[in-house]
This record gives sequence, C-alpha cells and structure tokens, in this order.
Amino acid sequence: MNRRSFLSIAAGVGTGLAFRARSSAYQTQVVPGVVQVDLEAKAGWIPFVGRQAYLYGYNNQVPGPLIEAKPGDTLRVHFTNSLPEATNLHFHGLHVSPAGFADNSFVMVAPGEQFQYELPIPTNHPGGTFWMHPHMHGSVARQVWRGLAAPVIVRGQLDAIPEIQAAREVALVLQDVTLSANGQPVEPNLMQQMAGREGALIGASGSANPTISIQKDGWVRLRLINASCSRFYRLQLEEHDLYQISSDGGSLPAPIGLSELLLVPGQRADLMIQGSRPPGAYRLLNLPYSRGAMGIGTGMMGGMGGVAALAGTPSTIATFVYAGQANPGFSLPQKLVPVQPLPLPSQTRSFVLGQSMGSGMMGGGMSFAINGRTFDPTRIDTQVRLGDTEEWEFINPMGMDHPMHIHTNPFQVVQSDGSLEAAWRDVVLVPGGGRVRVRTAFQDFTGKLVYHCHILDHEDLGMMGVLEINPQG
Ligand code: C2O
Ligand code: CU
Ligand code: CU
Repeated sequence: MNRRSFLSIAAGVGTGLAFRARSSAYQTQVVPGVVQVDLEAKAGWIPFVGRQAYLYGYNNQVPGPLIEAKPGDTLRVHFTNSLPEATNLHFHGLHVSPAGFADNSFVMVAPGEQFQYELPIPTNHPGGTFWMHPHMHGSVARQVWRGLAAPVIVRGQLDAIPEIQAAREVALVLQDVTLSANGQPVEPNLMQQMAGREGALIGASGSANPTISIQKDGWVRLRLINASCSRFYRLQLEEHDLYQISSDGGSLPAPIGLSELLLVPGQRADLMIQGSRPPGAYRLLNLPYSRGAMGIGTGMMGGMGGVAALAGTPSTIATFVYAGQANPGFSLPQKLVPVQPLPLPSQTRSFVLGQSMGSGMMGGGMSFAINGRTFDPTRIDTQVRLGDTEEWEFINPMGMDHPMHIHTNPFQVVQSDGSLEAAWRDVVLVPGGGRVRVRTAFQDFTGKLVYHCHILDHEDLGMMGVLEINPQG
C-alpha cells in the first residue's frame, strides 16, 4: 500500500488507509534534505463522509495531503491562500522555530497571496505524528471546521524499530462538521461556540466508518490525530487491547496497554493493534464523554444545554476487518525510545482559566481568558529565558474541560504523586474543577509563540496567551 490509498480514502473512494509516503506530485525532494510541498487552501466541493460538501481543502482534499519528513530535513511549503479570507499555517507539535518564515502563528496570508514557509527540522527531532492547521486568530475554529487539517509525519528512531516497521501503518485524521442538506457547513450559534462546537458528522481521514484491514495475528500501527474543533474521542476497539507506543511528541519508553484511549482536541497517539481474535469485523468505537457544564462551578448555564457532549450512544469511527493471509505474528518490543525526565524547574507559574463577561450575561461579548485576560497579539503575557526549565500549572475553576496546548516545546506532565509522566505531550486535558502541572524546557528557539485552549472556539474567543522566549544573558 502506498500514499495513494491514503489519498483515495481522503477522496472517499478507496478502501485501504495504509500508506507509506515517499514522494508525490505535491511533495518533492529535488534538493536532498529539502522536502518541498506545494499547498493551496481553497474552498470547493469536496467529498467528505460519502457526501459532496462545500468545504475548505488543502489541495482540494479533506483532510489535506500527508506531509512526511525526517529529522534534519528542511520542510519548505509553498503556500497559496485561495480562500476568500485570511489564513496561515501552524505545524502543531513540531519542535521548530516559532519565528520568521518558520512556525510563526503571527503570520497572516491575505486572500490571493502566497507565503513560503521554511522549517528546518532539528537533527535530534523525535519521530512522531504531528499535524498542520490554520492559526488565524478569530477564524481558527471556522477554518478547521470547514476541513483545513493535514497530517505531518516525522520518521525517526521509533520508526526504525523492526517490529514497529513491520506493522501495517494507517493514519486516521479525526474531523467533525455539521452540514446542511445541500452540503454547506453549518456555523454554530454563540452558545454552541462557548461550549465548543461539535459536528453531527465524523470523518476518519474523510470517510464515515472506513474499513481497516488487519491480518490474523498481524499488527496495525494506527496513527490517530484529533483534528476536530472540540470533540473528545474516547476510543475502544471491540475485543482488542490497544498498545500505545507514541504520544503527542513522539515515542513512549515502552508500550502501554490500554482498554480505551481518550484523545482530546489537538492530541495524537500511535496505537499498535494485533489481530489476535477470531477473524471477523470489530468496530473502533467512540464512547460517550461529558466535557462538563458551562459556567463557573456548578454551572449557571447548565440548564441551557450548553454542552451537548453527553451523547448517549457510542458511534463507530472505523471497522477493523480481518483479511488476507495469517501473519506469523510477533510480540511487541519491551523498550522503545527512552524519555529523559526534565530537570527540576527554576520557576513555577500559574495560569487560571476563566471567562470574562462583556455587556450582559448572555449577550455578545462573552469571552474566554487566561489569568483574567483575553488574547491580545500585541501583548506579551509570559517572558521566559532560553534554556530554562519551568513548571506551569493550569488551574481550571470552571465547570467545563479545557485541553491546554503550548507551541514549540513539548512538556512532561507532573502526576499526582509528584513524579513526571514518561511521555512528551503538547496538549493536556485540564478537567473542569481540576488543575494540571506540566514541566517544560525552553530549548533551541527564541521568539514569540502562543499557548491556548485547543477547543478552537475557546481559543478564538480569547483563551490564549503570548509567550516570549528571550535569549540568555
Ligand atoms: Cu494545534 Cu496553536 O494549535
Ligand atoms: Cu500547536
Ligand atoms: Cu477551553
């Protein structure tokens, strides 16, 4: 299987989702070490979950084409904005410069304009599953809702482990949208935005319930990307255990066996799944999850049904079907790629998540805030020094969950017993009424970047701050 089958699924006609991209028309490697990608954002009629929909696509696809690079490569993206509105690109999770022509979320590409992104990927960059999406403040949710998202894979150390390499690789970009009868995306009302919009339709790499074939006793490596605006996925594969090998920022030190996986917006996870059951069809289910009620504490708006996330029945994301010859099978390696614990922090900061009211309780002007301030791109909220390690505590006094994300540098979560989780993440769920502490080191890059809630409506409504990493000295 090759990249084509991934794309044909994106076009809604194929049956295979496995891929292993090497080169293609949009992605070329004329100069060794330079991955060159031609990317156009454009509105048009694009197949999605078996329907024709008027969406925003990258190269006319939802999700956009897969981009693949390796540590040490320079990723060069010739980007054309053919949308009727301004946009830009963010390379979610990549540890690259946030400045200049690299992963700069302050860039604005006007309609009809072009921009050449140039991202040197460090030679020690971890292999992992990343993704790309717009970061145009105020429009992020609407643009992602309309389809703008694409997988980015960096192949590194994890990918060189023979057992991992031997697995059949499948990427699922999870997107949701609500469409009108004539295929137009339906925009949420203000209450739905405050809750975080969730779509009536779920696409797994553009398809509704695609078939993933698995050999008896063979392994599938599932790369999952939550590219939905607000939806949390609580995934379970009928009668199968899941073995997580990678989190947002790359490999785990060892596989972790799970019966279900919670994937919040922005997060990624790589799962190994073995065809260890009697041959048949098994559903990858999305189980109900409540993201909590709106408002402070017990929720003054709880009665208004602000958060619709309490869907009572599981839905099917994809179906694993045993097919082909039996595989001789093998067991997973006990060790993957080590995760070095970060040193003790030199500073601790807290970030209180909240809402601020404009004029009137329910009227316009409702916004979201961090430490009482709504996002202002001209203000710097947090200044740190290159090379420092810090602990950030996200405090959520609200009734609803907020998945918090930091650009550029991944973090390690401080667990309740004070130890560090042996995983690199860049999005962490801060549950309603809860607090979460993460440890991060500001390595390699100076410049301005952002941290925000990855419920994209909350980000657009102001739950975002600016971090500046200053040179040492
Ligand atoms: Cu995936 Cu700033 O976001
Ligand atoms: Cu990001
Ligand atoms: Cu939020």
